[in-house]
Amino acid sequence: MSYSEVKFDKDAVFLVTGGAGFIGSNLVEALLRMGHKVRCLDNLSTGKQENVDMFMDDPNYTFIKGDITDLDTCMKACEGVDYVMNEAAWGSVPRSIEMPLYYEKVNIGGTLNMMEAARQNHVKKFVYASSSSVYGDHPVLPKKEGQEGNLLSPYALTKRVDEEYGKLYYKLYGLDTYGLRYFNVFGRRQDPNGAYAAVIPKFIKQLLDGETPTINGDGKQSRDFTYIENVIEGNLKACLASHEAGGQAYNIAAGGREYLIDMYHKITTALGKDVEPNFGPDRAGDIKHSNADISKAAEFLGYHPEYDFECGIKEAIDWYRENL
Ligand SMILES: NC(=O)c1ccc[n+]([C@@H]2O[C@H](COP(=O)([O-])OP(=O)(O)OC[C@H]3O[C@@H](n4cnc5c(N)ncnc54)[C@H](O)[C@@H]3O)[C@@H](O)[C@H]2O)c1
Repeated sequence: MSYSEVKFDKDAVFLVTGGAGFIGSNLVEALLRMGHKVRCLDNLSTGKQENVDMFMDDPNYTFIKGDITDLDTCMKACEGVDYVMNEAAWGSVPRSIEMPLYYEKVNIGGTLNMMEAARQNHVKKFVYASSSSVYGDHPVLPKKEGQEGNLLSPYALTKRVDEEYGKLYYKLYGLDTYGLRYFNVFGRRQDPNGAYAAVIPKFIKQLLDGETPTINGDGKQSRDFTYIENVIEGNLKACLASHEAGGQAYNIAAGGREYLIDMYHKITTALGKDVEPNFGPDRAGDIKHSNADISKAAEFLGYHPEYDFECGIKEAIDWYRENL
C-alpha cells in the first residue's frame, strides 16, 4: 500500500510485540520506513534475530529481548508508547493440540499482560492479532463477525479469549482495542522450515529444493490467503480508527477464496515446475473452507486490501527465490 496516505503524529512511538517474527518484522519495517520510532519486544522463541538485523542501525529502532508472560517486561516496554501492535503468540493449530498449557500461558496470559501494561501506560490504541480460527466449525461462508461456531483447537480458544479481554478492557477501562482476525497470511520472511510451517512457504521451499510437497486432505479445502501487505494496511488503519470502532474484532483478509490444489498449481506454474503433489491425511483441528467477509473492516477501519492472491504470491515467490 502507499504508506503516504496513512498519517500519524511525527513523534508517535510504536511497540510491536513479536516483532522478530513474520508479521511483526514486516510491521516494524513499514513503521520505520514511515519514519516512526519503533520498539520491538520479542523473546526469539519462534522469531529470528535475522528478521530484524537490518533495522539495527536505524536510530528509531529499539530491540527488547523479553517475554510477554512477564508483566514487568511489558510495563517497561509500554512506557511512553502511543500505539501497540501485539503480534507475539505461538501459532499453529496442530502444535496447540499437542501443548495446550503453553498456549494458554503465552497467547492468553501474555496478551492480557500487554493489555494491562497498555492500560496503565495510557497507550492510545491496542491493536492485537486474532485469527480466523475463532470461527471454528461455523459452516456459513463468507465468515462474518458475530457468526462464530464451536472452536476446534486450543489455539482458537486463546484467540477468542483475547477478544473477550479486548472487549472488556474497552468497556471497563476505555482502552481502544482492535482485534484483527487474520486469514492465512503469507509473504516475505514467513518461515518455510519446521513441522509447523505454513503451507505456502513450505511448498515454495520444497519445490525450489526439488522435493514433492504433500497436501493434507484432498486439496479441495479452500482458504482466504492474505498477502502481508494487506495485514500491514489493516494494522495501520486500526491504529487510526475511531474510539467507537474499538472493543471489537475485524476480519483482515483478501476477501477471496483459493482451493489448496489451485494454490499449489499456481505456485508450480510460477516456479516453472511440473510436479504433482502427494496427498496425506486431513489435519486435526482444520476447517474445510475459509473465506472472509471484509465489509466490517472496510466500514469501520477504512480497510481496502490492495493485494489479491495472484499479486501477493508473485511477490512472495520473487522474495523466496532471492532469499532462500
Ligand atoms: N501467519 C498467519 O497466517 C496468522 C494467521 C492468524 C493469526 N496470526 C497471528 O499473528 C501473530 C503473528 O504471527 P506470525 O505468523 O508472524 O508468527 P511468528 O511465529 O513468525 O511470530 C510470532 C513472534 O512472537 C514471538 N513470541 C512468541 N512468544 C513470545 C513471548 N512469550 N514473548 C515475546 N515474544 C514472543 C516469537 O519469537 C515470534 O517472533 C500471532 O499472534 C499469530 O497467532 C497469524
